[in-house]
Amino acid sequence: MSLEEIASQVKVCTKCQLCKTRTNAVPGEGNPRARILFVGEAPGGNEDVQGRPFVGAAGKLLNQMLEKVGLKREDVFVTNIVKCRPPENRDPEPDEKTTCSPYLDAQIDTIRPAVVVCLGRHSAEYMFTKYGKEFPGITKARGQAYKVDSLFGHFILFPVYHPAATIYNQQLRPVLEGDFRTLADIVQDVNAKGA
Ligand code: URA
Ligand code: SF4
Repeated sequence: MSLEEIASQVKVCTKCQLCKTRTNAVPGEGNPRARILFVGEAPGGNEDVQGRPFVGAAGKLLNQMLEKVGLKREDVFVTNIVKCRPPENRDPEPDEKTTCSPYLDAQIDTIRPAVVVCLGRHSAEYMFTKYGKEFPGITKARGQAYKVDSLFGHFILFPVYHPAATIYNQQLRPVLEGDFRTLADIVQDVNAKGA
């Protein structure tokens, strides 16, 4: 399936209750040839209004982090586990994640990224479970590269704190910055290998 086909399905999807309260579904966007895929949790208010991922405060931070280490938002692909905004930005329910995640799975199979950056605990937990790794919790897992097998070959899972978490807890900001520097090294490495 092409990314456009996946996006058109997401935009009209009514598979879970979140379709009733959303303004716009947010399929995700970016470079279809991206080597790096960023996976967040679920759209927030700004994303719901614009139908685009990470365009609010967390998105601004994500862009700053990318820029600092020489990565460009145009070069990566950005999406979420759950494509519609949960009311009042509550956590997505387990059944909403289960119902929506086939869209993410399809995006991964189409993009075939070399690195999947899990933004926050929800994303990391989903990806670890999906690819058969035990999730040790975000505090332990963040900043480390985990090699996983998929139908299209190996790729790297790289969990980091959610950018929004570093808005509420400023102490996490340098940790996130350090992890983005590690990410830039990983990306350089996979590009050099052509992997
Ligand atoms: N937070 C997320 O997890 N995803 C977005 O798209 C925006 C904020
Ligand atoms: Fe469909 Fe996902 Fe939106 Fe639920 S959250 S309606 S499964 S696109």
